[in-house]
Amino acid sequence: MSQSFDVIVIGGGPGGYIAAIRAAQLGFQVACIDEWKNATGGPAPGGTCTNVGCIPSKALLQSSEHFDQANHHFADHGIQVKDVKIDVAKMVGRKDAVVKQNNDGILYLFKKNKVSFFHGRGSFVKAVESGFEIQVKGAKEEVITGRQVIVATGSNARALPGAAFDEDMILSNDGALRLGAVPKKLTLIGSGVIGLEMGSVWRRLGADVTILEGLPTFLGAVDEQIAKEAKKAFDKQGLKIELGVKVGEVKATKKGVSVAYTDAKGEAKKLDGDKLIVSIGRVPNTIGLNAEAIGLKLDERGAIEVDEACRTNVKGVWAVGDVVRGPMLAHKAEEEGVAVAERIAGQHGHVNFNTVPWVIYTSPEIAWVGETEQQLKARKADYKAGTFPFLANGRARALGDTTGMVKFLADAKTDEILGVHIVGPMASELIAEAVVAMEFKASAEDIARICHAHPSLSEATKEAALAVDKRTLNF
Ligand code: FAD
Ligand code: NAI
Repeated sequence: MSQSFDVIVIGGGPGGYIAAIRAAQLGFQVACIDEWKNATGGPAPGGTCTNVGCIPSKALLQSSEHFDQANHHFADHGIQVKDVKIDVAKMVGRKDAVVKQNNDGILYLFKKNKVSFFHGRGSFVKAVESGFEIQVKGAKEEVITGRQVIVATGSNARALPGAAFDEDMILSNDGALRLGAVPKKLTLIGSGVIGLEMGSVWRRLGADVTILEGLPTFLGAVDEQIAKEAKKAFDKQGLKIELGVKVGEVKATKKGVSVAYTDAKGEAKKLDGDKLIVSIGRVPNTIGLNAEAIGLKLDERGAIEVDEACRTNVKGVWAVGDVVRGPMLAHKAEEEGVAVAERIAGQHGHVNFNTVPWVIYTSPEIAWVGETEQQLKARKADYKAGTFPFLANGRARALGDTTGMVKFLADAKTDEILGVHIVGPMASELIAEAVVAMEFKASAEDIARICHAHPSLSEATKEAALAVDKRTLNF
């Protein structure tokens, strides 16, 4: 007889493993199936985020930032270092160890919360009276039954037509995170989040990096003023970004990769590099799920179609994270996972898409929540803006990192915060205050009147809130 569960979660990334834990907390018998394998074939739950995404990229960003600091900024502090060298194998090994700590942490959390973990591929067999039969294909093959199913199968990197990933010369995020040496010349296609983060890592380590971007605007989804400031900083660092290009033929040999393209002026060009990273977005993953067996509807992008509550067209089947609409972010996947588990328990799980923060972990970091100034203009909103530069912040000066600013956008009549945009040091941490403020529908004045520690970068947030009412104190 097959094992049966109240809830089966297919996929153990941030959407899936968090949904499984929350469902178990709510008293359900829960199974989570995940197929990711580590180097020795063992289980490696945590999905893209843990294995080839958020965590390893931030580990390499940290290592490369240390290298950059030692090479270019220690001297400003009177610290002299000579012959700074990078041991790429050790750096990548450290990253792998950080990933493993996270994999093991999730396995521990499953045990702690009594979630039954199945290592293998889960696919729908059929709908039955008691729910759904799911086949698990791993070291052994078995069928388990779930009353409710949460699909959290994530996404895969989108390949450029005619240039399939080989993870040796043409790299997705996977290969980009485990290069064995610093390439002399590195080409990236797509100056989105991955392009900028991965481009930054390898540039800091000494690669000559060029990013080819199809759109004529840089970071179109980011507030224009912030994007402009970030671009200035990247230009200064020597991160070359060509906008408005049309990529043509990609030729890879054992020695390198050449990319033919037409530049913004319509001139035909060719770029030779040792490696090519393609970071042109991600596609929802339903490979091997056998969604057809239960008539699960996908949209034209291949994402599982869901309503605002993550219900699919099949009653009792839910879907969360990268495999559904909305931003492809780990924290968005997690929030949906929690909300679905709570809805299954009859509670009112809720995700506020208006307050999902975004962070790009470059240097300077870029972070934002809510609407951009161009969005407010487009909807003819009556708004006020206030900015404060890190140049005028004492802590930023002490850190030696004064690039960027905090920008507040607030409703002209009610003063309610509509968006907060930051480019600068620790923007990833500073944005949390703005998220809390917006969740509580705070006004810019609320933030302006709150006591912020001195000296801290968060004082720039307070000052930007004061700037909305044209009364900054330190600028
Ligand atoms: P995933 O994390 O993709 O997990 C899906 C899991 O399901 C995988 O383990 C997969 O093996 C498994 N699976 C799929 N099909 C089956 C099946 N049939 N049976 C069993 N298992 C299956 N987001 C952030 O918020 N912050 C960041 O800093 C960040 N950095 C990123 C850096 C990179 C380089 C990349 C590529 C992404 C980054 N992201 C970041 C995005 C983030 O990784 C994703 O949004 C997040 O992982 C989505 O979570 P998920 O649970 O929906 O899917
Ligand atoms: P992206 O959507 O951020 O950027 C892709 C870029 O490629 C865009 O600027 C697009 O205009 C460009 N592009 C698309 N097709 C092109 C072509 N043929 N030629 C030239 N340029 C082209 O996607 P990316 O960087 O691949 O990342 C995928 C997703 O992963 C992100 O959108 C984000 O959701 C997530 N992610 C999040 C991170 C974070 O939160 N810090 C870090 C990395 C990824």
